[in-house]
Amino acid sequence: MGTYFDIDNIITAREINAAIINISGRQRMLSQRAALFALQLVCTEDSCEQDRLRQKMLAAIDLMERSHNGLINGNPGMNLPGKPSKTVWKIYFEAPYYLSQQIRNYITQVRALGQASRTELNLKNIHLKYILQVSETELLAGLDTVVSQYHKESDSLQLQLEIKQAQLYQQSCTATATAHAHAKQLERTLDDLQRTQSQLIQAEKFCSIGQMVAGVAHEINNPFNFIYGNLQCTKEYIQDLFDLINAYQEHYPNPLPSIQTKIDNIELDFLQEDLPKILDSMQLGANRIREIILSLRNFSRTDQTSQQLVDLHQGIDSTLLILRNRLKACGNRQGVEIVKDYGNLPNIECYVGQLNQVFMNILSNAIDALEEIPNHLGYITIRTSLSPDCSRVIIQIADNGPGMTPEVQDQLFDPFFTTKPLGKGTGLGLAISHKIVVDTHRGSLKCESFRGKGTEFWIEIPLQPSLSRSECKLKQMALNS
Ligand SMILES: Nc1ncnc2c1ncn2[C@@H]1O[C@H](COP(=O)(O)OP(=O)(O)OP(=O)(O)O)[C@@H](O)[C@H]1O
Ligand SMILES: [Mg+2]
Repeated sequence: MGTYFDIDNIITAREINAAIINISGRQRMLSQRAALFALQLVCTEDSCEQDRLRQKMLAAIDLMERSHNGLINGNPGMNLPGKPSKTVWKIYFEAPYYLSQQIRNYITQVRALGQASRTELNLKNIHLKYILQVSETELLAGLDTVVSQYHKESDSLQLQLEIKQAQLYQQSCTATATAHAHAKQLERTLDDLQRTQSQLIQAEKFCSIGQMVAGVAHEINNPFNFIYGNLQCTKEYIQDLFDLINAYQEHYPNPLPSIQTKIDNIELDFLQEDLPKILDSMQLGANRIREIILSLRNFSRTDQTSQQLVDLHQGIDSTLLILRNRLKACGNRQGVEIVKDYGNLPNIECYVGQLNQVFMNILSNAIDALEEIPNHLGYITIRTSLSPDCSRVIIQIADNGPGMTPEVQDQLFDPFFTTKPLGKGTGLGLAISHKIVVDTHRGSLKCESFRGKGTEFWIEIPLQPSLSRSECKLKQMALNS
């Protein structure tokens, strides 16, 4: 009996095993039945009955022969594999039993009795004597021995099969657990990929806005410098001209009539008074344009590869500048009021371009939310402060918009989650912001929102993201001591 490895083989092995036990047991029964029919055959006078018994006896012995051949050589129809074990083989072919030979002799003797004429059918018949004798002694002993050996082997195989089945079950449990772990890993990889992909899309979008802003700022800056740079000397030249006119007037208090007409026409006194004011307001406007250009340049700073020490307030201000148009009142939309409550912040080490992107996303979301309520006076409060242990900068951006449901809050930072109509929102803004704050800057980004009241985003950025919290604490202690 071989070794079986899978569940199909285990089932087949069980069937074969049952067939062997069944058929080997039947051999014993067939030998006894053949002996009984033989005895009945010689004892009956009735020829019909004799024929019937002869047939029964020969049928039993045919079956016994087929079963015996099957047990030794195999018989697929009877589910017998043949190839008996060494011990069984010995019982069949070696001393003391020579069982196979015994069975064949027995079969020969029964068939010989089956061929006997009526007159030969008596209790002295030599074949009958042989049959009756061996069926109760050697043959019976041999058959009993082989059956009990088959039983022993069956029990041991049964045990092996049970162990194998338990192992297979164990293996299948392990395989299922491994498959689950692989599936989880795949899910995580897919998630990461999706995040990276969304970050790339958003970064590209932001990068092109940045490039455009930088381009515009650069283009305006050059011609503007002609104006800004020349304003001061224009003022001086004009003052010189005024001084010259005054000197003329002192030396020639009575000008020619045509000159006097010109002086009256141009209202020289008013002009002399008004022109410096005009120049001052031009200077003021020019200063403002200069600030705007600086802000635009600051906003579009491309600093993807290295961190810089920067003033976050500048970043927030330049982002507000970009969004200025969206804050103005328009149609039935009231303007959005920005309330700044800036604390005293040190410069922090960060990727300022990326943090501007975060401010941009959160502020745009707040403006979008405020726009949802018609005729609503919207406020966005921007508060900055240092954490109590001075290791982190805190930026709170709150709006008095419609707020969010708990379901929306649960999915807020999931990539592609949006409640905005198709074409308006991609659902990437907060997913990217989360990555920038948490992964890139080792900070935290949280949100608190109440339906009907508004939403607040809470950003925390370590002053030095490269330091761990414990390192920050040590530094703090060193500073305090
Ligand atoms: N201040 C807020 N008030 C109310 N809801 C908000 C606010 N900020 C974000 N949300 C909700 O969170 C969702 C996800 O925001 P997120 O910025 O990730 O994507 P989006 O604004 O829909 O699209 P995108 O920013 O890619 O254009 C928004 O669709 C909106 O429902
Ligand atoms: Mg958004």
